[in-house]
This record gives sequence, structure tokens and C-alpha cells, in this order.
Amino acid sequence: MGDPTREHLIETYRKKAKHYDITSRLYPAPGYPQRAQRLRAVQALGLRAGDSVVDIACGTGLNFPLIEEAIGPDGRIVGVDLTDAMLAQAQDRIETNGWSNISLVQADAAEFDFPAEVDAILSTYALSQVPECAEVIAHGAAALSGGGRWVVLDLKVPDNTPGWLGQLGTALVRPFAAIDEWIMRRPWEVIRAAMQEELADLSWTELFFGTAFLAAGAGAFPCDDDSNGLLR
Ligand SMILES: C[S@@+](CC[C@H](N)C(=O)[O-])C[C@H]1O[C@@H](n2cnc3c(N)ncnc32)[C@H](O)[C@@H]1O
Repeated sequence: MGDPTREHLIETYRKKAKHYDITSRLYPAPGYPQRAQRLRAVQALGLRAGDSVVDIACGTGLNFPLIEEAIGPDGRIVGVDLTDAMLAQAQDRIETNGWSNISLVQADAAEFDFPAEVDAILSTYALSQVPECAEVIAHGAAALSGGGRWVVLDLKVPDNTPGWLGQLGTALVRPFAAIDEWIMRRPWEVIRAAMQEELADLSWTELFFGTAFLAAGAGAFPCDDDSNGLLR
């Protein structure tokens, strides 16, 4: 028997997939500069021509044009997502743009086998939905090339927000019913702690009144025997 939470999530995104590119412009709230934040996240990857990038929970591939611009035709993107219908939209985007350097993998991020020596890993508005987000960060960090970048852009509840207000705000933006679980789990804290543990030079920036964050860290070089960049 499948995992009911995962199945509910897949069903939710199956319904959203066709119109996701339009509806997500209002995500997480009207006025939120989503495209600008996406661009910021891609810039934080520090990409160069020819780099390989994994986009975890890539959805319909809204990050692909920004990544393609940085890596060019000699680079490579692997887009991973759980929901077939979101990947179908991503495939349409790939064909419309004539990109031949992107492969899509339908997989749970928690079980995805990262390619070795990948130059960069990105996840936008998705990792906090994965209960095993700490494991995903660890698996990715282990696969990153030395100095490669792991970047997460996602939502959070602002600090010092009364519980009821956080609940109301996030209920408006979260697409699935497990909102209480999401608030209780405080995944942004889990993500921050895991990135601190697994990566060097972690930067953490709160966005849009603390309702979102951009986190970026670097993979350790083989000669490092600590995870905090203290030897560099
Ligand atoms: C809000 S959308 C974000 C999509 C895309 N990253 C973006 O920025 O537009 C969340 C995506 O996460 C995917 N997702 C959720 N849980 C996942 C998991 N455990 N493994 C892989 N993908 C997952 C969903 O299928 C959906 O496409």
C-alpha cells in the first residue's frame, strides 16, 4: 500500500499542473516577487558554462530557463519530481524550447540517487514539503563536487508570529491539507540545521518579511576533514 500523504500530494499537484505556471505567479501571496527570488536563487548557484545541475522537485521546470542561460548547451540539468503531471508540463517546456540537455526523473526526492560530482543542486518552493528534507540535503551534499553549491529557496513561518496567524497565512498558500503537520515540523529549521551540518560557508537570508528564505552552502573539498569550511 502506498503512503497516503504522498498520494494526496501527487493528487493535489496533478490537479494544479496544467495551470501551475499561471497560478504560481501568485505564490506564496500576491505581491511576492517570485521571479526575482527565483533568479536570486539561481545566481546563488554560481553557475558556469558546462555545469551540471540537479533541480530537486522541479515541478513544471520554471527554473530551467534561468539555469539554461547560465550553463549553456554544454551543461546538463536533471529535473526530479514526484508528480507525473508536473513532469509532463516540464517536458512540454523542454520541447517548446528545443533544449536537448535536460533529463527528467520521476522519483521521490528522498529516494533519488544523485549523480556523482554534480556542480550544483537547487530546490525551490518544494523541499519543505519533503518530510525527509534533511536526508535529501545530506545525499545531495555527498554528491556535490568540491565547492559545488546547494541552494534552497522555500517558505517559512515568520519568527515571532502568533501561532494562529502563522496558521492562517500558511493555510492560504499551502496546497495540501497537512498544514498543521508542516507548521509543527518547522521544516525550515530542519533544512537550516542540515545545511549547516553538511555544507561549508552557509548563508541564510530571510525574504519577504520572514515568510521565505534563501539558503546556500558549498560542498566540501576532498582534502577538508571538517564540514564547516574551517580549514579553508
Ligand atoms: C510548489 S511546487 C514547486 C515546483 C518548482 N520547484 C517551482 O519552483 O515552481 C512543489 C513540487 O514539489 C514536488 N514534490 C513534493 N514532494 C516531493 C517529493 N517527496 N519528491 C519529489 N518531488 C516532490 C511536487 O510534485 C511539486 O511539483
